[in-house]
Amino acid sequence: MNPLVLSTWSFGPVANAAGLRVLHAGGKALDAAEAAATAVENDPTIDSVGVGGLPDADGRVSLDGCIMTDPDRCGAVCCIRTYANPVAIARRVMERTIHVTLAGDGAEAFAAREGFAPAHLLTPAARSEWEKWRNDPRSIDRDHYRGWLPPVNIEEVRTGRAREPSHDTVSILVRDTAGALAGACSTSGMAFKVPGRVGDSPIIGHGLYVDQHAGAAAATGTGEIITGVCGSFLAVEEMRRGAGPLDAVLVVLRRIVERFRLLPEHQVALIAVTPSGAWASAALRPGFHHAISDTHGTRVEAAQRVLIA
Ligand code: GLY
Repeated sequence: MNPLVLSTWSFGPVANAAGLRVLHAGGKALDAAEAAATAVENDPTIDSVGVGGLPDADGRVSLDGCIMTDPDRCGAVCCIRTYANPVAIARRVMERTIHVTLAGDGAEAFAAREGFAPAHLLTPAARSEWEKWRNDPRSIDRDHYRGWLPPVNIEEVRTGRAREPSHDTVSILVRDTAGALAGACSTSGMAFKVPGRVGDSPIIGHGLYVDQHAGAAAATGTGEIITGVCGSFLAVEEMRRGAGPLDAVLVVLRRIVERFRLLPEHQVALIAVTPSGAWASAALRPGFHHAISDTHGTRVEAAQRVLIA
């Protein structure tokens, strides 16, 4: 069977290259998903995942991640502050504990016991972005504890004059040569968030869901909105009922449009893969790109469908 790696955003090729190396060496989908996430986490130029991620409102970086191959095989960690690779730690949670999710100090103590090396996550570039944010009088909406983020000019992003907004999760779906599916999500979360906030990415069923019998889906974007509709679980359940991957992710996006009062900065995108290897990506708004690696090579492409043009 031909392998496939599908990941989110235009930094996806970093993930896909690492995942493909594992698959071409005969590795399994799970190993490829972990390697793909680790490559993005270790790249300090990507400011929304791993080392180099933009920090919380208090200037400290916190990372979330998860990994999954089936309902009974998943692991997650939240609020990791001193280790670079939440997905690798999540895999250890899955494989070496009876639990699914570890958070904060407990997750860090577990990582230390498992022999992960501590890392300094805040790069000079991320620190300088945080200082700009902190010194901007618009930065904190004290009534809502909501950080102000610079508005995004979608037209400039579309034409390449501006970079994509600083989100978001790298979400990776892999189908290996045996037809097995796996997925991983990794993020530093919403930039300048309230410390302690956890988004969709490490929550099984929200940022990621995988079921070998039904398919795999993963999300990126505004975590609070994805969580509100159990986005990835909903997409996989649609595929279980027979929907194709594009229809499945569109059900999720339409539900979001129906049930949320969306703000201009809200964005959600989903990717999905079926057990037979069909795949899709769709987004609420323009600006989202996925990276697909299959028999035709690796391409970065705009979402196949955008709901709000
Ligand atoms: N989707 C990433 C987050 O909201 O944290």
